[in-house]
Amino acid sequence: MNLKGRSFLTLKDYSPEEISYLLDLAAELKAKKKQGITGNSLKGKNIALIFEKPSTRTRCSFTIGCIDEGGHPEYLGKEDIQLGHKESVEDTARVLGRMFDGIEFRGFSQETVEKLAKYSGVPVWNGLTDLYHPTQILADFLTMREHLGALKGKKLVFAGDGRNNMANSLMIGSAKMGVHFTILAPEELWPQESLVALCREYAKESGSEITITKELDAVKGADVIYTDVWCSMGEEDKAAERVALLRPYQVNAELMARTGKDGTILLHCLPAVKGNEVTADVFEKYADVVFDEAENRMHTIKAVMVATLGNLDA
Ligand code: CP
Ligand code: NVA
Repeated sequence: MNLKGRSFLTLKDYSPEEISYLLDLAAELKAKKKQGITGNSLKGKNIALIFEKPSTRTRCSFTIGCIDEGGHPEYLGKEDIQLGHKESVEDTARVLGRMFDGIEFRGFSQETVEKLAKYSGVPVWNGLTDLYHPTQILADFLTMREHLGALKGKKLVFAGDGRNNMANSLMIGSAKMGVHFTILAPEELWPQESLVALCREYAKESGSEITITKELDAVKGADVIYTDVWCSMGEEDKAAERVALLRPYQVNAELMARTGKDGTILLHCLPAVKGNEVTADVFEKYADVVFDEAENRMHTIKAVMVATLGNLDA
């Protein structure tokens, strides 16, 4: 599999085989790191990390993943560069593309990350936009593989804001990989119909079933219950409205019991607001899995950089 030179902007651009390859590579890099073995595949590579929004996991994963492979990461926060204020995205992209070998972008607009890729001429990786969070899905799927085995045929239910970046990306990834995917949310927070239709097309190929519902009974038989904050970054003014809409969809002991299964796991991309989308007791019960998932951000992000930019023979 050769992904050299490719950007990673949304999972829509990646085939199931390519996604599987990234998961396999991440598992291999993780096993090596556990034995104290890191690589040199990014030796001599300079990597820009642009963050318009804050981050713990994604920033640390890109930084450590890059350094583990011999590269140099450079953090560029929103107050540090001219991007979008004094200088157009196109011009910043052309400057950074002359200096850096790869660019990570976290921010608001998906259009910005796409422009960066178009104009910089180097691989660009989406570290989260309002629409998508594709690197997170790789960590989620690696964690599912570790805890539950093969992805195909597993049932994943996302309870919460069904039109946020996580719901969108989980739906795309699940539809591609044959994971049965349910969004459990009030109708006001259902995903865009056009994205659901696209995912149903992917699902025809993979055998996945996509369900969008407001009925709590939909969690029956779930292998994974997934949740995320009720207000994403940039939506802080919507807090009261979201609490009112989403309170019935909180992941609590009662909702977990409705799965009717013992082996169901909880996943959460983090950070978590305990008492809102998940209760503290349920979170603690599944904390080991959730923090495996957080750790897997690093191994999977490293795999994306190595596959698209690295020299695997180094
Ligand atoms: N899950 C995730 O993207 O976390 P950060 O916002 O801390 O990067
Ligand atoms: N939906 C959340 C994800 C955080 C990783 C947000 O965008 O804030």
